[in-house]
Amino acid sequence: MRTLLTLSLFFCLSFSMMAQDIVLPAPQRSGGKPLLDAINERQSIKDPAETPIDLQTLSDLLWAAYGFNREDRRVVPSPLNKQELFVYVVLKEGIYLYDAKANKLFEKVKGDHRTIAGKQDYVYVAPVNFLYVVDKSKETGTGAYISCGCAAQDVYLVCASKGLACAVRTGIDKDAVHKLLKFNAQHEVIAGQTIGNKK
Ligand SMILES: Cc1cc2nc3c(=O)[nH]c(=O)nc-3n(C[C@H](O)[C@H](O)[C@H](O)COP(=O)(O)O)c2cc1C
Repeated sequence: MRTLLTLSLFFCLSFSMMAQDIVLPAPQRSGGKPLLDAINERQSIKDPAETPIDLQTLSDLLWAAYGFNREDRRVVPSPLNKQELFVYVVLKEGIYLYDAKANKLFEKVKGDHRTIAGKQDYVYVAPVNFLYVVDKSKETGTGAYISCGCAAQDVYLVCASKGLACAVRTGIDKDAVHKLLKFNAQHEVIAGQTIGNKK
């Protein structure tokens, strides 16, 4: 009996410690506002509501940031197609790594760590923050900043199209992110982007 109890406790504990990855719905790859209207409405809005963003919208935003629009090529350009970026997603529930091929978010850290996503109050209450991370071992130099800018602009335009609040940021405690996400020396966060519903 005691062995049975110990075993069930072990399985309960292991289950509760298991990563809670998130399967995303397929992104919507057409529709939305006309491109020129979205460009015309793009702006930084730095007082997002705290209300959550639904999974379909999150999937659409991630695809616009760093999804694939051809077999092995992304929606954003990169030097020699090196695809040197990673997109991490900071939610209230935890921090996740976006895998565009699997269309999944892989849990990296559990819990609310929104304070490491930036240095301003609006970051800490927003439902979604993206962190753009470069893999410097791919030796793309300043190219990574250009890829990141393209990704961030795509997200801005989808936010303009969907009527969401959005702001890109470089004000981040890089060391805190590095430590929490256990980066190796080649990984560096270069920008963040805060997304939420408008108030
Ligand atoms: C490279 C870059 C870094 C930025 N860093 C921050 C930041 O750390 N914090 C912030 O609140 N906004 C940041 N912003 C957003 C700017 O404040 C914003 O783009 C600017 O005020 C112009 O407003 P607009 O985007 O609505 O045109 C940044 C923008 C860029 C392009």
